[in-house]
Amino acid sequence: MQKKEPKIIAFCCHYCAFTAADLAGTMRLQYPANINIVRLPCTGKVHVNMLLQAFVDEADGVMVAGCEPGSCHFLEGNVRAVKRVAFAKEKLREAGINPERLEMFHIPASDGPLFAKSAEEFTHKINQLESSGNTEKDEPDSSESGAGNIIKDKPQCCS
Ligand code: FES
Repeated sequence: MQKKEPKIIAFCCHYCAFTAADLAGTMRLQYPANINIVRLPCTGKVHVNMLLQAFVDEADGVMVAGCEPGSCHFLEGNVRAVKRVAFAKEKLREAGINPERLEMFHIPASDGPLFAKSAEEFTHKINQLESSGNTEKDEPDSSESGAGNIIKDKPQCCS
């Protein structure tokens, strides 16, 4: 029986990671086909609820890929994204979802190979989590847990 590919959502900044993904394609670099790219003007547009909703919608992993520190076209969008990813990881942990399923990346527009490598490695990590089943890290903290409950209360997050 063929192994199920994990569903991975990649929120990519238009100016860097999305361009790098495009470049990877132009360079004919292989990266997993299960990466579903959502293009954003900046990772600063990623809200915690978007990240959590991806898991409610049965994503196995979520990547947030923005410009390198100091290179954001909107100055601090990627800094905000780092904080939101950290906050969302806390919420995932509380819901009993392994926070390693969510990761922030910084990928310059000119680095197609880095995008392909990051996508490959992240998919490999998610595959390992999938094959290890519900490990301790995936166990819920409380009885009211699971992806369906993680956005029950609107997260109070950093700006
Ligand atoms: Fe790329 Fe802000 S413009 S992360």
